[in-house]
Amino acid sequence: MAIAELTGKHLVLGMTGGVACYKIAELTRLLGKAGATVQVVMTEAATQFITPVTMQALSGRPVYTSQWDARIDNNMAHIDLSREADAIVIAPASTDFLAKLAHGMADDLLSTLCVARDCPLLVVPAMNRQMWLNPATQRNVAQLRADDIQVLGPDSGAQACGETGDGRMLEASATYEAIASFFSAKVLTGQRVLITAGPTFEPLDPVRGLTNRSSGKMGFALARAAQQAGAEVHLIAGPVALATPWGVNREDVQTAQQMYEAVMRVVAQQHVFIGVAAVADWRADHVSAHKLKKAPGQALPTFTFIENPDILATVAQLPQAPYCVGFAAESGDLASNGEQKRLRKKVPLLIGNLGPQTFGQDDNEIVLFEASGQTALPRADKHELARTLIAEIARRLVH
Ligand code: C5P
Repeated sequence: MAIAELTGKHLVLGMTGGVACYKIAELTRLLGKAGATVQVVMTEAATQFITPVTMQALSGRPVYTSQWDARIDNNMAHIDLSREADAIVIAPASTDFLAKLAHGMADDLLSTLCVARDCPLLVVPAMNRQMWLNPATQRNVAQLRADDIQVLGPDSGAQACGETGDGRMLEASATYEAIASFFSAKVLTGQRVLITAGPTFEPLDPVRGLTNRSSGKMGFALARAAQQAGAEVHLIAGPVALATPWGVNREDVQTAQQMYEAVMRVVAQQHVFIGVAAVADWRADHVSAHKLKKAPGQALPTFTFIENPDILATVAQLPQAPYCVGFAAESGDLASNGEQKRLRKKVPLLIGNLGPQTFGQDDNEIVLFEASGQTALPRADKHELARTLIAEIARRLVH
């Protein structure tokens, strides 16, 4: 999650009856941390699973549960609560509530709010697999989609009832990501974006190898931002300890050669290629099949290195090359090294940063190098920079 990315957004979070109500406590906290304000509205059934007291404490606002609640001046909670909302999110959305929505029923505060809304509606279904597969539920969900209501999930897996299958509510973090994605400007709709991220690992023997301190954070943040912008994202990652961004197709590799082959397999279908990975320049020309042993009096091992393929430069030279963006971590004289690297790699856009001190950090300071000149961006969180960069890339695709 990026800091404050939902600042200024106001959500009505509607909870209906289901054991997945426990996930909404965490979701409310995530939304609040991202800067959104959350007005919780619960059905009578939802209050059987988690108390309004808990939801009030987490959202920082009184919870509404009844259409006869007299706290709103004109006594029209069903109208007023949605008027200030940027979206209504129903989570968990029960089988019964989906059916009500599909038929426009309005027999309690939450269902009436939904019918009276003038803002987008997102639903996050949660139910037993047979209830989800029931033709009536499927019919209702198809109707909701046709009515332009966003259906997020459901997930598949173990269920509270002990069965396994489709119908689980998305985890709180995935629900958060889907909501954040919903609010992102869709500047890359219809575009396929290929990103490399992280370090590579070049083995010397079965247990040792050469790697570098790249954490993959910038590349993963770009993958998330591109997905949120509506792109279909393929992320090829070296060995990193990061969770896959929601909705991103990830492929793990170890060595530069494997990264090169993985890129070449899919590059023909891509519109954009962003090489963020810190790819090793060299690999050992011989990898020992056995662990190299230290023994008294024995000569120290020596290694001969051969050059790895330059993935970015190779992609940039393809006859039907996608729009190519490179990254460069320089330890000095970024201004001239950045532009020289851009020309050497023959890419239209190169992003320079004064690494390696940014490796592993949550923020970064970058400069855009292109034929028309250089643009420095102020130091910012990597997620915020990723959003800015994706918007900049999208602008250049149009022109
Ligand atoms: O040459 P250098 O490693 O400084 O260039 C960095 C840029 O080139 C990054 O975009 C990186 O992903 C890419 N690169 C590559 N294959 C290599 C070396 C670097 O794609 N073998």
